Amino acid sequence: MNVEEIAKILPDIVIVAETRADIAAREVLLDRAMGPKRRKKSSEKLRRGRRPSEGLALVARDAKGSVVGTVRLWDVRLGEGGPAALLLGPLAVDPAAKGTGIGSALMRLAIAEASRLGHRVILLVGDAPYYARFGFSAAKTGQLAMPGPYERDRFLALELVSGALDGAKGVLKAAGRKLGAPARRADSTVGKGGAGSENAGVSFARPTGRAAL
Ligand SMILES: CC(C)(COP(=O)(O)OP(=O)(O)OC[C@H]1O[C@@H](n2cnc3c(N)ncnc32)[C@H](O)[C@@H]1OP(=O)(O)O)[C@@H](O)C(=O)NCCC(=O)NCCS
Repeated sequence: MNVEEIAKILPDIVIVAETRADIAAREVLLDRAMGPKRRKKSSEKLRRGRRPSEGLALVARDAKGSVVGTVRLWDVRLGEGGPAALLLGPLAVDPAAKGTGIGSALMRLAIAEASRLGHRVILLVGDAPYYARFGFSAAKTGQLAMPGPYERDRFLALELVSGALDGAKGVLKAAGRKLGAPARRADSTVGKGGAGSENAGVSFARPTGRAAL
């Protein structure tokens, strides 16, 4: 599914690169959607003190411009010195807007962007019945582990490149840019997050105008 197809389904929603101005609203949304325990998850160990993978922090906004959905993906390695992969999460939608397709739109756009940016694998810890619709399963995560407690049947992966997880093993390691480190590149014609963005200088969406649905 691409941005045009999603736009037909959710005409009042835009999905854009998250900017610094979105951070407070995103955090309020995450507290509302997931509660305070969200900060104790094993995934948090791989995210703390890091920036999201370039171009892969997205927010959904409603017609008023309010943040109603969020998803971010993080650079990790599959075992010490192992191949690069992405860890997805948290994904959350404002409870008032649940069930309207925003979560699916965020997932489909994030997967498409990750693939376009050349990533090979996305991992996450989450509800298999939800993430199966996007192609995630636990079939190839048996030799991998999170750096902390997690439920094995919720440790899921999607290969963006077929066979990318063959032989992968070990504990996931954080590999993202550290907070405070400068963005790697400042290219791009579209979808710039702007000077205050965690995605500054990175394009992610449609070929003209602002990155929107
Ligand atoms: C999970 C979440 C992101 C889904 O977003 P959403 O915009 O409500 O989802 P969509 O509208 O795209 O999809 C709705 C469908 O997903 C299903 N679904 C939602 N959450 C589900 C779950 N945890 N397990 C299985 N199915 C789920 C709904 O039943 C619905 O199914 P249908 O299409 O057959 O009717 C959202 O409910 C949320 O923010 N939940 C709280 C935070 C959270 O749990 N995040 C995920 C961490 S694993």
